[in-house]
Amino acid sequence: MPHLVMSPQLYVLFSTLVEEASGILYGPQDQQVFASKLTDHVLDLGYSSLLDYYYRLRYDDPDGNEMRRLVETLVVHETYFFRELPPLIEIADHLTALVKQRGHARVWSAACASGEEPYTLAMLLDERGVLDQVEIVATDISAAVIARAAAGRHSPRSLRDGHPPAIAARYLEASPQGVIVSPRIRGAVTFSRLNLIDADGVQRLGLFDAILCRNVLIYFRDDRVLSVVEHLAKMLRPDGLLAVGVSESLLRAGTSLVCEERGGSFFYKRAS
Ligand SMILES: C[S@@+](CC[C@H](N)C(=O)[O-])C[C@H]1O[C@@H](n2cnc3c(N)ncnc32)[C@H](O)[C@@H]1O
Repeated sequence: MPHLVMSPQLYVLFSTLVEEASGILYGPQDQQVFASKLTDHVLDLGYSSLLDYYYRLRYDDPDGNEMRRLVETLVVHETYFFRELPPLIEIADHLTALVKQRGHARVWSAACASGEEPYTLAMLLDERGVLDQVEIVATDISAAVIARAAAGRHSPRSLRDGHPPAIAARYLEASPQGVIVSPRIRGAVTFSRLNLIDADGVQRLGLFDAILCRNVLIYFRDDRVLSVVEHLAKMLRPDGLLAVGVSESLLRAGTSLVCEERGGSFFYKRAS
């Protein structure tokens, strides 16, 4: 099998293309992993030159299908049930209050990976007796991970120490082979593929009472974070809440949204 070497110049060319297509920023520290995943993919496609593959992406991929395939091989889908639970509990309580007021609510998990985040929210809503009144939309840039999410079958690593045992036992069937989500919870979430930097696609989803965009903005440049967040903000209802990951902050990026603390967790809202 031929051996392909990615020079620093090629790394800049490829990583710039990937950043334009997905928002994901690759720095010098990522070069080795990026080069290894990309060269495996390029060899699988039968290319013997990285530059030829670059030209294919740059000039011969009009519908973006090959770029989508490449991004699939590069993205990191780390997630697990009950991850960063306190903000999810706050969101579940917020949606429950809205259902009691007006009979329905909508929430979006905007980079849901294999679905553990929206499924956790669905369990919390079912415990509060409002699951049937809440529409849960879940999207990710990766079609492969969305297919895994919709199947509701997860690796043993998706359930970690510290999970709430009662709720897990009620909705998840765990064995050494993996974790299966109960049909009721699986049926409550609608999955589809969506790239967060596709502003028109974001707009087509409509308005939400809460948006979860957690542990994905860390991969974006600050100006990209700002533009994505501005698009998300337009999809929030006036009192809607945006949650980012606990180690992410929009204030650092200079957002126009206002930050609000609820029960020790931080959320962003449109300024009134
Ligand atoms: C680390 S996971 C976070 C999953 C979940 N939100 C959580 O906090 O556990 C990041 C996810 O973001 C997705 N992602 C990366 N860039 C994206 C983009 N431009 N649009 C949508 N999803 C993206 C990846 O495919 C991956 O599944």
